[in-house]
Amino acid sequence: METNKPQKKKNWFLPLVLSLLLSTLLIFITVFTSSRSSSSRLYKTRVKNELPHFVESKLKVSATSKDPVPRLAYLISGSMGDGESLKRTLKALYHPRNQYAVHLDLEASAEERMDLAKFVKNEPLFTKLGNVRAVVRANLVTYRGPTMVTNTLHAAAILLKEGGDWDWFINLSASDYPLVTQDDLLHVLSSIPRNLNFIEHTSDIGWKENQRAKPVIIDPGLYSLQKSDVFWVSEKRSVPTAYKLFTGSAWMMLSRPFIEYILWGWDNLPRIVLMYYANFLSSPEGYFHTVICNAEEFRNTTVNHDLHFISWDTPPKQHPHFLVSDDFQRMVDSNAPFARKFGRNESVLDKIDSELLGCNADGFVPGGWFGTQGNANVTVPDYNLKNITTFRPGPGAERLKRLITGLISAEDFHAKQCT
Ligand SMILES: *[C@@H]1O[C@H](CO)[C@@H](O)[C@H](O)[C@H]1NC(C)=O
Ligand SMILES: *[C@@H]1O[C@H](CO)[C@@H](O)[C@H](O)[C@H]1NC(C)=O
Ligand SMILES: *[C@@H]1O[C@H](CO)[C@@H](O)[C@H](O)[C@H]1NC(C)=O
Ligand SMILES: *[C@@H]1O[C@H](CO)[C@@H](O)[C@H](O)[C@H]1NC(C)=O
Ligand SMILES: *[C@@H]1O[C@H](CO)[C@@H](O)[C@H](O)[C@H]1NC(C)=O
Repeated sequence: METNKPQKKKNWFLPLVLSLLLSTLLIFITVFTSSRSSSSRLYKTRVKNELPHFVESKLKVSATSKDPVPRLAYLISGSMGDGESLKRTLKALYHPRNQYAVHLDLEASAEERMDLAKFVKNEPLFTKLGNVRAVVRANLVTYRGPTMVTNTLHAAAILLKEGGDWDWFINLSASDYPLVTQDDLLHVLSSIPRNLNFIEHTSDIGWKENQRAKPVIIDPGLYSLQKSDVFWVSEKRSVPTAYKLFTGSAWMMLSRPFIEYILWGWDNLPRIVLMYYANFLSSPEGYFHTVICNAEEFRNTTVNHDLHFISWDTPPKQHPHFLVSDDFQRMVDSNAPFARKFGRNESVLDKIDSELLGCNADGFVPGGWFGTQGNANVTVPDYNLKNITTFRPGPGAERLKRLITGLISAEDFHAKQCT
């Protein structure tokens, strides 16, 4: 066998060299003649090479809606025992122009989830407008795990598919509550650019580098049917160099174009970063921030604020402290449209209902869209809706406008973007 090899080589070597020479000659002749016959074609090919037609260049960020009055899409989620607070928050946030998805995770009992679904189905106003939906296929959501992000993306996808032309997506929990009416909110948002993303963020990850970025966690919620806590892998990983990590608040208001970018994933960044965050503790505090600040198309649309009043202890603990009546004035003075977190049936919620929202006895907040016709006795709103694009902004709109114009017109507005 060994001795055969040189012999074989000789057999094929000469024909190969000859055919190579011949084909090179042919190619040379073809190129030479064609470029002579049409010099413009050669020019065209060169331009083509400079501007390669990748599919991404055709997939542009969507334009924002031209409708003078914006629409919001809300996700309100909760867990075991949150059913009643969730209903209350939903009613306080309700407006016919908006879209809502409500979700009780798999830890809540089947009865509790069924009760919520029935509530949504039987509420005459929701049936009439069809803008509230309960997520029936509940997710297992692990506290601090990436399943929190997948749950948010799941609801955003449902709202994108079914919710029509909304402008912003807002993720809340059953322990959040509004401090302004939807009339106030929609009125103020009518006058700002629709591509803005309200997301509190920083690249100064500080202690989180060692506590969050380097440890590797596994969320059993990604593969198990039973709820259990995240666990740590002994191996550590280094901080990413392919993109820069950002961190911030888990509460945000994201524009539709950004949600489309995240969900449709025509650029690979949102997908890669999602996979990276699958092993990151408290991923809702980093995933959206890291994507938006590493995407050239979106970093200039960030407003560094989470639109929430949250009262942290100093130094901050894992949970913010529960808001009570003593915090009421600070909540109002913050000018924020939302606050958290509230205990179930907390009495300060009644104070917010009566002093800030002017809730009816059935929990809906009156506005331009329905009236009680001046009869203070009427507790059930008149379901013959009036014009739903006419708002009746109150003092809440003044407060919110102060906050938002303050943020957008601040001298250091651009300096605070993704730094
Ligand atoms: C969304 O809402 C849930 C509350 O159910 C919260 O825990 C989570 O951190 C929020 N944020 C994001 C970005 O998913
Ligand atoms: C974002 O803003 C920076 C600084 O103002 C500017 O240089 C850059 O071109 C902007 N990017 C986009 C995509 O608008
Ligand atoms: C809240 O309080 C009301 C009356 O004070 C009571 O009927 C209701 O059961 C309470 N709900 C919860 C979830 O504690
Ligand atoms: C309002 O309700 C009270 C008590 O139910 C009743 O006495 C009164 O007549 C009502 N007023 C009107 C204007 O309906
Ligand atoms: C609602 O009111 C606005 C402004 O007052 C008006 O432009 C619009 O046509 C009205 N829409 C309907 C359906 O009446």
